[in-house]
Amino acid sequence: MPANSALKSNAPVAKVRHFLQMTDFSAEEYAYLFERTKIIKDRFKRYELYHPLRDRTLAMVFQKNSTRTRVSFEAGMNQLGGSAIFLTSEASQISRGEPIEDLARVISGMVDVVMIRTFEQSMVARFAEYSRVPVINGLTDDHHPCQVLADIFTFIEQRGDIKGKIVTWVGDANNMLNSWMQAANVLGFMVHASTPPGYPIDETLLKACGSSVRVFENPLDAARGAHLVTTDVWTSMGFEAETEARKKAFADWCVDEEMMGLADTSAVFMHCLPAHRGEEVTAGVIDGPQSVVWEEAWNRMHAQKALLEYLVVGEVKS
Ligand code: CP
Ligand code: NVA
Repeated sequence: MPANSALKSNAPVAKVRHFLQMTDFSAEEYAYLFERTKIIKDRFKRYELYHPLRDRTLAMVFQKNSTRTRVSFEAGMNQLGGSAIFLTSEASQISRGEPIEDLARVISGMVDVVMIRTFEQSMVARFAEYSRVPVINGLTDDHHPCQVLADIFTFIEQRGDIKGKIVTWVGDANNMLNSWMQAANVLGFMVHASTPPGYPIDETLLKACGSSVRVFENPLDAARGAHLVTTDVWTSMGFEAETEARKKAFADWCVDEEMMGLADTSAVFMHCLPAHRGEEVTAGVIDGPQSVVWEEAWNRMHAQKALLEYLVVGEVKS
């Protein structure tokens, strides 16, 4: 039963699915979501109306800044026939200390699905625990599953199946790398990761991902034979005080033409954006022929529409 039907009828709420990290779905579910993303994107390209979420509402809670996540969720929800509500800490009672559990109980009694961008992963986990409706992680310090969902769809669209391929990560041991590592383990590809000394990959996650992840001291070694090379800002949101120290530590972890030259000749370059040309990537790479960053950004909306449809109405046949 769709979440809000249960809500309106006061019937007991069935176990709700959430998307808080990449391990929340199986390989079969991802295959379904990628198929749906293609169908939904093709409809959009043909200007075909598709309103499976008519009368449904998404609440978006942002405790960190955003361009892509906000626009892609809000536009996507509108295109599916629903609507989205934008909340920030400052403009809500969150900044005045309202407990996350209370927030979850209240918001999830009025909408059909919630997206949260916040700091600790435990915040989205606690919200989900008290929510009557599906909760989507729109980025935490630890994970950014919506971005990796769109990135993998983009790879499939550009190059075909990702199974057995090598995804090279060069840069910070951050939320994006964590989501890539989990995805590799669920979907059967490899992550070759290189992070600077002093910025180690989360040990627990590394262990959980087993042989899906190989760690390299030298970023050039990590790039050899890659089918996808990807990086991210050196300083993520919430870590701004470390910016200057990070600029020094990360100087050799820049994706440049030499590094791309070591990758497979078919390799694509991705970056979740926003990017800093001349820091984590050269302008020549991000604006060059191997870069698919714009398709990647636009695919956020299509992948998330498939995700919203799946979480709110379940599997759809047509
Ligand atoms: N990539 C990404 O999540 O971008 P925003 O921070 O602009 O949402
Ligand atoms: N790792 C970055 C991603 C931004 C979309 C951050 O958390 O700021």
